[in-house]
Amino acid sequence: MTLIDGKQTAADIKKEIAAEVAAMVARGERAPHLAAILVGHDGGSETYVANKVKACEMCGFTSTLLRFDEDITEEKLLAEIDRLNRDDSVDGFIVQLPLPRHIDEQKVTEAVDPAKDVDGFHPVNVGKLSIGLPCFKSATPSGIIDLLDRYGIQTRGKHAVVLGRSNIVGKPIASLLLQKAQPGNCTVTVCHSATPNIKEICLQADIIVAALGSPAFLTADMVKPGAVVIDVGTTRVPDASRKSGFRLCGDVDFDNVAPLCSYITPVPGGVGPMTICALMKNTLQARKQKNK
Ligand code: GUN
Repeated sequence: MTLIDGKQTAADIKKEIAAEVAAMVARGERAPHLAAILVGHDGGSETYVANKVKACEMCGFTSTLLRFDEDITEEKLLAEIDRLNRDDSVDGFIVQLPLPRHIDEQKVTEAVDPAKDVDGFHPVNVGKLSIGLPCFKSATPSGIIDLLDRYGIQTRGKHAVVLGRSNIVGKPIASLLLQKAQPGNCTVTVCHSATPNIKEICLQADIIVAALGSPAFLTADMVKPGAVVIDVGTTRVPDASRKSGFRLCGDVDFDNVAPLCSYITPVPGGVGPMTICALMKNTLQARKQKNK
């Protein structure tokens, strides 16, 4: 069994990006610039955005964090997005989700210029991804594809089973694994809450992507020996022994499943660290597209 080290892979990718940015700057070009909008003080969102800003520093990017109070109106937020869309010094930006309930997230997502949508959430980018056109790929599916690629995992002709049908993970990773590409070229089955025989389907899988947000859902009796298992779960489970008061729990019963696998991602340290890398890659791509 090979443990897929997302932390190390993410560090390698950030170093590669930093080298590319250093070369750009040495040629007299402007460094990529990512802006992030954070509304309110949600603990998880604060941590995610702080990590994104830190990753920008590591990659040599400029970053701008725009903070707004919880009670910002939808109109004011949309005006801020419009301002960033038109600001030539900003290559890409994100609006950290979730937003307060009085703001329509879909409306906000669709207000972002697709050419600056480095989260890859705009329907234009989602649509391009599903038909295999170049686009900003959303972070988690992009991170999974990078891990499969960097570990040289052969996917062609394999049966990939995706557990979960979310718009930001399940659907796009199913699309990417289906594309005529490496990684890709899989036969893909997507299972969800209305799938009656998940265990039988998982037992036929060469690759399983568990992205349903249910701690330790995938157990050893559901996994074929030699399978590749990618765990996207990050449920916070209370843990008094930790300083934070919680630990992250994946969707895979790791201790019992790992011995069966050819490759498996741990939680934490697997897919998680790769997601911010995807955002950095998209921002670099946005910067380069500006030069064209
Ligand atoms: N909230 C949780 N994940 C994400 C993400 O990838 N992007 C944004 N904007 N918000 C999130």
